Amino acid sequence: MYDMFVHPRGTAGHAAARLMARTGTGLANDAIKLLDLDPHANVLEIGFGPGVALQRLLEAVPDGHVAGVDPSAVMHQHARERNTAAVKEGRLELHRSTAADLPVSVGTMDAVLAIDNLHFWPSIPAGLSEIRRVLRPGGIFVCAFSPPSGGPPPHLAALLASQGYETTTAGIKTRQGRLFQVRVPRASTAA
Ligand SMILES: C[S@@+](CC[C@H](N)C(=O)[O-])C[C@H]1O[C@@H](n2cnc3c(N)ncnc32)[C@H](O)[C@@H]1O
Repeated sequence: MYDMFVHPRGTAGHAAARLMARTGTGLANDAIKLLDLDPHANVLEIGFGPGVALQRLLEAVPDGHVAGVDPSAVMHQHARERNTAAVKEGRLELHRSTAADLPVSVGTMDAVLAIDNLHFWPSIPAGLSEIRRVLRPGGIFVCAFSPPSGGPPPHLAALLASQGYETTTAGIKTRQGRLFQVRVPRASTAA
């Protein structure tokens, strides 16, 4: 049951995609508010699932660019169908990869988002280090966790600090879940 959300595939994966699309909008809206996006921003979503937050991100950066990374073929199908025009126009780029291997150049992202998947990554430090590599100095990372997903992993704030992020909003609670907002220090270069 749990596996259909972590490694969505086959019929169960399609059912998981439909469920996530029905229930994920509220947390996506809360998380995107915390990203504080400029209309020209370059933004990356990790573990985009059925692509509901990608849709909102495209609305938030009408003059910018959105990229997404997810390892699941089923999720790519749902996200592409939900965002067909943006893919065709080149405003949305979808990659089949994981948090630990982001196909993105150093320091090119203004913001990175991960909703309900950081706690599934095989190595959270490897993912956080990759995100830090692709964010520009001053860039923002937001991760969010709904209660059904199991909530944030223990010691997340300490893990983020150990990777050199400055915590701006740690573990705030909304009606939809818990959210963390951190920033790459402005004076730093990617690790
Ligand atoms: C519970 S779903 C959440 C999907 C979406 N963010 C949402 O809130 O509806 C978890 C997603 O993370 C993806 N995922 C699993 N392992 C991952 C990894 N190591 N790196 C990036 N994404 C991963 C899955 O394929 C799935 O699409």
